[in-house]
Amino acid sequence: MIEIRNFESDDINDLLSLLHTCFDPRELEGITSFDMLDWYRQFPGGMKVAVSDGNIAGFVFAFTSRGIGWITLLCVKPEFRRREIGTRLLQAALAYLSTQGVRVVKLDVEPESPAAGLYKKFGFDVERTLLRMRKKLR
Ligand SMILES: CC(C)(COP(=O)(O)OP(=O)(O)OC[C@H]1O[C@@H](n2cnc3c(N)ncnc32)[C@H](O)[C@@H]1OP(=O)(O)O)[C@@H](O)C(=O)NCCC(=O)NCCS
Repeated sequence: MIEIRNFESDDINDLLSLLHTCFDPRELEGITSFDMLDWYRQFPGGMKVAVSDGNIAGFVFAFTSRGIGWITLLCVKPEFRRREIGTRLLQAALAYLSTQGVRVVKLDVEPESPAAGLYKKFGFDVERTLLRMRKKLR
């Protein structure tokens, strides 16, 4: 039985471990538990977790910025995938954003990611394709 609920600060270590399981370290560059607790303070209803037997199996973060809703870090533990948990998390994120007075929701996704199919199923269209560039300073 999977429950979708709001993130609570006690979830922080479990959540960090999930993110490191699901994402390449470069995608998480710079994200610390301090940042996540700060998001939680700013958007307490925007961080949703999927919980199985008390353990976090999935996560999504929805937030608003300058009138736009954003969805990021949607992820499900590998052993729980293809059981519609990602779908339920995305539904919860969109439900949260619809209470925040935004009319448009955006997200970034790699073209080949399985998540792209999920977002298309929910009616997301490609707005534009970006080239992410990076330079290290020392
Ligand atoms: C993307 C992710 C969250 C999907 O979670 P999930 O719980 O497996 O998703 P669901 O079971 O709800 O699947 C919903 C739809 O997503 C798409 N999808 C999910 N996994 C897929 C896969 N491996 N290949 C192709 N499409 C896939 C399908 O359209 C699927 O619908 P269908 O089952 O009717 O074909 C999960 O694969 C994940 O955590 N990936 C790693 C992190 C990531 O890339 N996050 C996205 C950041 S933008």
